[in-house]
Amino acid sequence: MLSIRNLGIRYGQIDAVRNINFDVNDGEIVCLIGANGAGKTSTLCAIMGLVPIANGSIEFSGTDLGGMPTEKIVRMGISLIPEGRRIFSRLSVEKNLLLGGITIQDDDVQSMIGEMYSRFPILKERCNQLAGTLSGGEQQMLAVARSLMSKPKMLLMDEPSLGLAPMLVKSNFDLICRLRDEGNTILLVEQNVNQSLRITDRAYIIENGELVASGSGSELMESDFVRNSYLGITDSK
Ligand SMILES: Nc1ncnc2c1ncn2[C@@H]1O[C@H](COP(=O)(O)OP(=O)(O)OP(=O)(O)O)[C@@H](O)[C@H]1O
Ligand SMILES: [Mg+2]
Repeated sequence: MLSIRNLGIRYGQIDAVRNINFDVNDGEIVCLIGANGAGKTSTLCAIMGLVPIANGSIEFSGTDLGGMPTEKIVRMGISLIPEGRRIFSRLSVEKNLLLGGITIQDDDVQSMIGEMYSRFPILKERCNQLAGTLSGGEQQMLAVARSLMSKPKMLLMDEPSLGLAPMLVKSNFDLICRLRDEGNTILLVEQNVNQSLRITDRAYIIENGELVASGSGSELMESDFVRNSYLGITDSK
């Protein structure tokens, strides 16, 4: 579904991402793992057309996304849940959802809002409340619901569990699994390596803008490199 070949991203003189290759197939959860500054957000932004591609190509369902405006990429079926959620905090919950539905047919908007309210009943209770007054977990639900409003085929999620209380981190990972079980395809960026490897079909590890390892979740959990560098496990198996 998504095919990334030799991707390079540059900010001025800085090479943020170099020569990255990965694929996401229909119905998969694929995870990008890496430390701060590794190039994860830049990669997601390049897929969305929010930063230019310096090298290589990004194809979605056989179409080259290079140079395509973000709105067209959203209409093709890709939606980003950005780092830090970026909900519109001074707008109501419902207005946030309406903005998420800006690319779908007017006739569909109300039924999609209804769908989001039945999926996340707390958002219905809070529909007229300013989004900035929601709790962290509720803001995360709103961010997910807002991106589902565009009826995406593929969801890009940038560190959704960052800043959530431990109990909410678990429900966030449960939600990601549920979205996959419902047929969504998910590209997940996470620093919660342990939880991510448990749910992901495949993962790719990025260090300083380059891919250094890849494999299934269980393969990577067993790998000494991942155990030492990302799971903080130094004892022998
Ligand atoms: N707009 C920008 N201008 C210049 N450099 C940037 C810009 N955005 C990111 N960078 C640099 O590109 C590199 C990759 O940043 P990126 O935000 O993609 O990393 P990340 O893996 O998402 O990190 P984090 O885990 O902190 O979110 C970093 O060195 C960063 O400083
Ligand atoms: Mg980031």
